[in-house]
Amino acid sequence: MYELNLVFNVIISAIIVIQSALCLPINSLFFRIDSNASVFESGDGMYTVIWSTSLPGTGYVTYNYEGEEYTVKDEKNAALRTEDTVHSVRIPKEHLDHNTYTYHSQHIATRRAYVAVKGRTVSSGPVEFKGYSGQDEIRALVISDIHENPGNAAKAVGCFEEEPDLIIMNGDEVSLMTEDYKFKQVLQYAYRFSRGEIPVLYTRGNHENRGEYSSDAVDIFKTTTGGLYYVCNYGPVQFLCLDSGEDKKDSDWTYSGLVDYTSYIAEETEWMRSLELDDDAQYRICVAHIPHLKNRYGNDWSQLLADRGIDLFVGGHKHRINFEFNEKDGAPYYQMLDGGKNGDDRYIATMLTIKEGQIDVVCYDNNKELRGEHTYYFDGSADNQAG
Ligand SMILES: [Fe+2]
Repeated sequence: MYELNLVFNVIISAIIVIQSALCLPINSLFFRIDSNASVFESGDGMYTVIWSTSLPGTGYVTYNYEGEEYTVKDEKNAALRTEDTVHSVRIPKEHLDHNTYTYHSQHIATRRAYVAVKGRTVSSGPVEFKGYSGQDEIRALVISDIHENPGNAAKAVGCFEEEPDLIIMNGDEVSLMTEDYKFKQVLQYAYRFSRGEIPVLYTRGNHENRGEYSSDAVDIFKTTTGGLYYVCNYGPVQFLCLDSGEDKKDSDWTYSGLVDYTSYIAEETEWMRSLELDDDAQYRICVAHIPHLKNRYGNDWSQLLADRGIDLFVGGHKHRINFEFNEKDGAPYYQMLDGGKNGDDRYIATMLTIKEGQIDVVCYDNNKELRGEHTYYFDGSADNQAG
């Protein structure tokens, strides 16, 4: 019986391989990079470079560092990933900062035991990446809640005269993860605002927790925490980037009884408690989509952030600007909610300028209207000028 099965499998494999090889010249014509790469923070002093192609294939990044040539491959447990159209490679930050990288993918039409049908390879041009270079002012562009309207977001971002040093994409950039191309939209937005040249801090919004591709998308980042939460540094700033989960209980009808954020958030909370934060960081900023921190699936993140010495919490989700000292939760840190999608035809983008013991906040909408200005001083005072 075993021999019969083996013969049958060999015949099927041979048919698939021959068919795939015959179609390869035409299929390969359609193989292209459909979302350019962005460089995402992913914790542990690492970046994850992520891009996508129109058809499945391999992914790898090449660069030179200290006289050596590097080729870093998208692999899992030693096997190159070939069945996905989204490709990700994790690289030490010091290798990419102030360096040039190129990314490549080869079309893999069929992969069986002992044989694979391979198509053409596509490559990006060289991309010059900027990291922290000791500048006195650090500008972080915050774009949350795009909700699939990048045009308005781009108009709002266009109001800022200065270029950002990093991008904070604080969730709900798309409204559902029901198809794999939805994550490609996140990638396209990340590239649109970063050009792959500056770091992107991405957190998952509640809408990006919905749909059968939500956990697949998180796996792409290859964090070591087991979820999309991590700590990263940019010069004197330490960012604690959290996955705040959903905005409803696991038992809500929305999820058909098929989610377990209670366990996921409990693990994340334990991780936050055990974190060794950087004592030398001058500013500690927590970034998470949902600002309701007092009760995250039964966990008091508000107190925990206060205990961990967070200076400023940056949230989204509410679709309106809010600057406040988060006293009502008994937590002595500032809170800022950026606007994002603000009504049907408005989008509010926010720029944080971090310098000399203060953080200046400026918010513009897509009609070029100044929607808010605020300064957080880290001597315990705040100056709310508008908004
Ligand atoms: Fe949200």
